[in-house]
Amino acid sequence: MNIDDLTIALIGAGGKMGQRISNNFKKTSAKVFYAEASPAGQDRVRALGLDVTATEDAVSDADVVILAVPDVALGTVSADVVPQLKEGALVLTLDPAAAYAGLLYQRDGIEYACAHPAHPSIFLERTTKEEYADTFGGIAAPQNVVAAVDSGNEAIKDRADVVIRTMYAPVIDVHWVTIKQLAVLEPTLVETIACMIGGLLKDALEETVNTAGVPRPAAEAIFYGHIQVALANALRGDNPFSEACHIAMDHGRDAIIKDDWKRVFDDSVLDDTIAKMLKLEALQR
Ligand SMILES: NC(=O)c1ccc[n+]([C@@H]2O[C@H](COP(=O)([O-])OP(=O)(O)OC[C@H]3O[C@@H](n4cnc5c(N)ncnc54)[C@H](O)[C@@H]3O)[C@@H](O)[C@H]2O)c1
Repeated sequence: MNIDDLTIALIGAGGKMGQRISNNFKKTSAKVFYAEASPAGQDRVRALGLDVTATEDAVSDADVVILAVPDVALGTVSADVVPQLKEGALVLTLDPAAAYAGLLYQRDGIEYACAHPAHPSIFLERTTKEEYADTFGGIAAPQNVVAAVDSGNEAIKDRADVVIRTMYAPVIDVHWVTIKQLAVLEPTLVETIACMIGGLLKDALEETVNTAGVPRPAAEAIFYGHIQVALANALRGDNPFSEACHIAMDHGRDAIIKDDWKRVFDDSVLDDTIAKMLKLEALQR
């Protein structure tokens, strides 16, 4: 299957992800209709040199409808859009929270998939300035994508794969998992844990500079280099940590990490996290 064989509707084209995806569709001859609700977002779509199409016209003949709208809006937007789709259309969302929470409007004969960009790996071999600058992915640095098809229909995976590789290009591979597994990856593994630790690293740097009084350039120099070493050693086993380093690491773990930290992988904690992200009292599943 080729991207040119498909009619695609992108809903929320003027948002952060919508603009990124639009920029990649623009580089192809794919037949894409761009829909956007807010006047400011419509201006952003036009600034990309693209026409804005009313949602009902954009989706009427679409083989694939990408819902690039905020997760909290996916329930209402899917309830509006899905009844207008032709039989066999694929609804593609960009984050698993709403699908996991059962918020997407369901209709027989419609397929549902979710595709989340992995972002370029810290271990990616980058050779150009453009690849180094593209930390988010979707511009120059190759990235992987993790995706799920609700029904498990293999034919739908082929159709989704073509669209995913275009909208998140350049793409190395698409890894297929279940919606539940995708929700364990995002939010639990990457937001609850990795992004939280990123924020903690920033707090630690500020503490070093502002409380301990270390000059910022010296603190940043040793911190940024050691973050790379810590990740390369811990995740890839590049070099062994020294014995003294292990003593300090154990001390840090005792002082900072709660004994029961792995409960963030419990279903009840995942449900609670996703309910909060979607601004719901609780998940209704
Ligand atoms: N921002 C990120 O870094 C990122 C990364 C990966 C996945 N995602 C996912 O991408 C999706 C979109 O997130 P975002 O950050 O781009 O959101 P955003 O708020 O930047 O953009 C959403 C756009 O949708 C538009 N919109 C809202 N309701 C609409 C409707 N009924 N019809 C047409 N347009 C409508 C808004 O006006 C806005 O322009 C979410 O599912 C999010 O979880 C975001």
